[in-house]
Amino acid sequence: MRSSTLVALLSLLSSTAFAAFTGDTSLAAVKAAFDDYDLPSDLDITFDPTVLFEVTFPGPVYVHAGVQLTTTETTPEPSFGIRLPLNGVTGPFVVIAVDPDAPAGVAEVRHIVAGDYTLGSADANNVEPLTTTTTPCSAWVNPQPPAGDPAHRYTFLLFKQSAGFDSQTVLQCQSTASPIGFNVSSFAQATGLGNPIGGTFMLVAASS
Ligand SMILES: *[C@@H]1O[C@H](CO)[C@@H](O)[C@H](O)[C@H]1NC(C)=O
Repeated sequence: MRSSTLVALLSLLSSTAFAAFTGDTSLAAVKAAFDDYDLPSDLDITFDPTVLFEVTFPGPVYVHAGVQLTTTETTPEPSFGIRLPLNGVTGPFVVIAVDPDAPAGVAEVRHIVAGDYTLGSADANNVEPLTTTTTPCSAWVNPQPPAGDPAHRYTFLLFKQSAGFDSQTVLQCQSTASPIGFNVSSFAQATGLGNPIGGTFMLVAASS
């Protein structure tokens, strides 16, 4: 971890007293954390977020970039949102989560691919919920990192939905096929999603 990570983390912590108990609150800190954890290069994506993507597990357990969470905390499907300001983005949106840290030939593991998310009204924390009534193309798969592995970087990305996304045939939806061997970069390119507009990630290791 480079020293800029520490600076980013310190500025994140000091930016608000409750930062550790919410999602991300700074676009610069999220971008710095992605860079420090080599996610843009490992996922082969350009990550220049314009919105703060909220990922929250029941509890609530808030994801912020680089947070360490347990397999138990991250078992149920998370909910999603965007922290204001929206900076001009409108829906619908696509959510994709991947694990780039499975062994070669297995990574990336796909943890969710779901579309047609639209924004609701802001809650008391200035977060507009993202909800969809469309069955996910690839349903939530909870983190199950192998015992002994260093924590895996489970990465959530938010995309502006492309016009033809609902009829894409790159990935067979609702299939029982194993979620291994996915490639978010080539998928986003092939389905016209382009670069993510938001993202965050969590570190999860097997419980000891
Ligand atoms: C994913 O696809 C890109 C091309 O879009 C390629 O450069 C990259 O190596 C692939 N990643 C993996 C893990 O296969």
